[in-house]
Amino acid sequence: MLRKLLIISTCSISLLMGSAVRADEDPRLLVELPEMMQQHMMSNMRDHLVAINEILHAMAKGELDKAADIAEARLGMSSLESHGAGHMARFMPEGMRRAGTDMHKAASRFALKAQEDEPLPAYEALADITSACVSCHFGYRIR
Ligand code: HEC
Repeated sequence: MLRKLLIISTCSISLLMGSAVRADEDPRLLVELPEMMQQHMMSNMRDHLVAINEILHAMAKGELDKAADIAEARLGMSSLESHGAGHMARFMPEGMRRAGTDMHKAASRFALKAQEDEPLPAYEALADITSACVSCHFGYRIR
């Protein structure tokens, strides 16, 4: 009985410590945004992922022009206005702003590459977009 209790309590202590350690070790910088802006940003983010998914489907069908259009309109420099990027940028630290700009530029570069109708260089340019997603996610969180 005592042994069992000991095992259970050891387990729960290590579980507790496990989550505490993980939270402490989160190396991402917390960027505090007003609630409305958080919602707005997360909804943009979900659309970013949908856009990447649609781009991959178009690429798989060999429709590189369509992939280019999706990238430019939803992720590229043309999308800045619709994302309210100018408004949100004021709340972001410099590095995060730069990561956002890098992502939009990579998407516009991809659009140009895809229009050349060469799949492999287009895939490489697509990976530059997702690398920009990864790099910002690595450095920042908003909650
Ligand atoms: C400028 C920084 C930045 C860039 C660039 C960026 N994200 Fe995000 N994204 C974030 C932050 C910050 C969060 C919130 C993370 C947190 O607080 O846990 C997030 C969250 C998300 C979420 C979760 C949304 C939800 O509702 O839970 C998805 C999906 C996502 N991003 C996709 C993408 C994709 C795909 C790209 C690239 C095309 C991308 N993001 C580019 C900063 C960025």
